[in-house]
Amino acid sequence: MGNQTEVKKNFGPRASNYRLSSTHGNPADLQRMIDRINPSSGAIALDVATGGGHTALALAKCVKDVVAIDITPEMLAEAKIAAREENIDNIAFQVEDVHDLNFKDHQFDIVASRFAVHHFSDVKKALKEMCRVLKPGGKLYILDCSVFDGEESEEKINQIELLRDSSHQFSYSPRLWLQLLEELPLTVHKTELLQEKYELPQWFDRMGTDEKHREEVFRILNSLTAECKENYPFGKDYITTYRFEIIAAKN
Ligand SMILES: C[S@@+](CC[C@H](N)C(=O)[O-])C[C@H]1O[C@@H](n2cnc3c(N)ncnc32)[C@H](O)[C@@H]1O
Repeated sequence: MGNQTEVKKNFGPRASNYRLSSTHGNPADLQRMIDRINPSSGAIALDVATGGGHTALALAKCVKDVVAIDITPEMLAEAKIAAREENIDNIAFQVEDVHDLNFKDHQFDIVASRFAVHHFSDVKKALKEMCRVLKPGGKLYILDCSVFDGEESEEKINQIELLRDSSHQFSYSPRLWLQLLEELPLTVHKTELLQEKYELPQWFDRMGTDEKHREEVFRILNSLTAECKENYPFGKDYITTYRFEIIAAKN
């Protein structure tokens, strides 16, 4: 099932790129997450798909304990290095697939996940698992790459993401996110679509995208309708992207 093998194949050899990524480690973005969650010092948090560990480390500085999970062992090894470098010792690292979490119901006060949902092969199952392990009243924070509402951007921008990374599954637009959230036992406090830039060539380099696929990305961008292009300005050294941010509480 799913693309978990592709995820491990793509992320394993490039794990250190993600620990060192200034996009993933952006201090302002991490502070924004902490402000949104407003964690209490006694909280127990789960970081789903920790990658290079940025989310787990930011949470660990504010809460009692963090469990950081990822399906790719090499990513967890990098996250451990990051924690050691900052003398953080309240994170437990575990290899886990989000679709089938080895945790009891209602175990965590906070479940957070950044830049990962677009890899999950069964998003409904994954989100249901994340909600299952959250305590009633517990907080869910998600930040993920997103696309502008509309059939064209939902199709074409996902093609671009897939050309760059063959383990890309799907980036959901706000309207699709709202449909997903409706089915979950959550009270959504705030959602926001944020416009960002992918710096080039760093975005391609981080995933080792080959030259042919880089050219194809620009061919697709050039072929967008004028209406779609308005939302996706691009140049030689950047592509426009969107992120969707969610803060919710478990019912
Ligand atoms: C871009 S990285 C995450 C970045 C990180 N959350 C941060 O804040 O810097 C995406 C991660 O998702 C993980 N991943 C993808 N599918 C997964 C799954 N089914 N279960 C757990 N982790 C998964 C990958 O192994 C990879 O480490």
